[in-house]
Amino acid sequence: MFIGIDLGTSSVKIVLVDKTGLIVNTVSNSYDLFIPKPSWTEQDPNDWYMQTIKGLKEIVEGYEDEIEGISFSGQMHGLVILDKNDNILRNALLWNDQRTIDEVNYLNEEIGIDNLLEFTGNIALTGLTAPKIMWVKNHEPDIFAKIDKVMLPKDYLIYKLTNVFASDVSDLSGTLYFNPRTKDYSNEMLDIIGIQKSMLPKIYESYQVVGNLSDEIKTILNINNNIKVIAGGGDQAVGAIGTGVVGNGECSISLGTSGVIFVSSENFNVDKISHFQSYSHANGKYHMMAVMLNAAGSIKWWNESILNTVNYNEYYDKVSKANIEEQLFFLPYLTGERAPINDPYAKGVLFGLGVHHKVEDIDLAVVEGVTFALRDSFELIKKLGVDIKRVRITGGGAKSRVWAQMISDILNVEVSKIKSEEGPALGAAILAMVGCKVFNSVEDACKEIVELDQLFVPDPLKSKYYDVKYSTFIKIYPKLKELYEEMN
Ligand code: XUL
Repeated sequence: MFIGIDLGTSSVKIVLVDKTGLIVNTVSNSYDLFIPKPSWTEQDPNDWYMQTIKGLKEIVEGYEDEIEGISFSGQMHGLVILDKNDNILRNALLWNDQRTIDEVNYLNEEIGIDNLLEFTGNIALTGLTAPKIMWVKNHEPDIFAKIDKVMLPKDYLIYKLTNVFASDVSDLSGTLYFNPRTKDYSNEMLDIIGIQKSMLPKIYESYQVVGNLSDEIKTILNINNNIKVIAGGGDQAVGAIGTGVVGNGECSISLGTSGVIFVSSENFNVDKISHFQSYSHANGKYHMMAVMLNAAGSIKWWNESILNTVNYNEYYDKVSKANIEEQLFFLPYLTGERAPINDPYAKGVLFGLGVHHKVEDIDLAVVEGVTFALRDSFELIKKLGVDIKRVRITGGGAKSRVWAQMISDILNVEVSKIKSEEGPALGAAILAMVGCKVFNSVEDACKEIVELDQLFVPDPLKSKYYDVKYSTFIKIYPKLKELYEEMN
């Protein structure tokens, strides 16, 4: 048996998987998200650890003697810092935290985009780890002075479960102090940020064994055998493994809090035009991705924070019956936006409201707005020369058939669902299996385990209609850009 741990933003999800890839059990435990100021997001790494242990205890019960390996998928870019006694120095700054605008401007403008592309293959974005470290240096110098170890969220779990200080190439690609081309830390970037290599974890491929479950954790879990711990990776790369997106040019769209268009590739490509994130993949190769910050997150916000409901079946039912001819538009920039506009000042907008509009019109506008924003990046990725015929969808939002069909209509592409909805957690379990030599490669494991489900094909009439509606959508943001800046 193998365990996949998906350390997400709202919860940690743990799956127990047998040798054939069958999911035997799933446990999910949530934790708090702290928002000390608008657009700042933090979590306590100890909450991640406690909820993971609680989940592990539950999931191994009855299988204590059968577990062979554990691996991870982690929310990316978060900054976890420890002092020399391994105390957590402050709450982790998360991937969607936008406080680092000044540091990002310094990196992109003073250090310069060309240099950043040479050192790391990527430009600075507010969510990445390097600007977060610089923010701590600039705003909390006392804390900065005490830093002994710098790690990513899932690396904290690895450290607590094994006592081994380790990370992997896919997650490290999102730090901006790692170069996916050389698969090593960038000395230039470490100098710019002001940290030493000795503060950073040892680098592994995502499917490599980093160590064993420590005796202390084995006692807590009532386990006697040796359990291998495999590095795992960033949630996007590992989610792509769980979706079987490992071949050259294959594409997935993950509909979690964030919305990500992910393209797998044999070679490392620096994107000098759209500046999409260009990273190491969890299969030993590479990938490119365009990340929007609020995809299913926007739908959750609309339903749970505004309408006060969690009845998503009813929501999508209303969406399916609403009138797509309404000229009502939603801009999903609820916490600023990453790809493709890369504007931390952007905000959400409902544009075109009239007295005749009802809640269901806004229901539709919200999911359409998210999908139009995905199309923005999709068009740019196609312009980079990637020929995408079919995409695989994954993540919480992929449960909805209504949204799957809308993605097919708006992006004008075939959309496949995957049989298992556990993308990143299943991907982590697959990495554990590869680390334990059940399969020779991640590709072999995916072929055996990942099964496609329903296929959605574009409805030509709707696609045509959405082309027109999208052409209005893309005119709204450029008209507001200056105003967003003024508001800050
Ligand atoms: C990827 C990214 C998000 C987080 C969300 O660059 O920021 O996918 O990893 O969990």
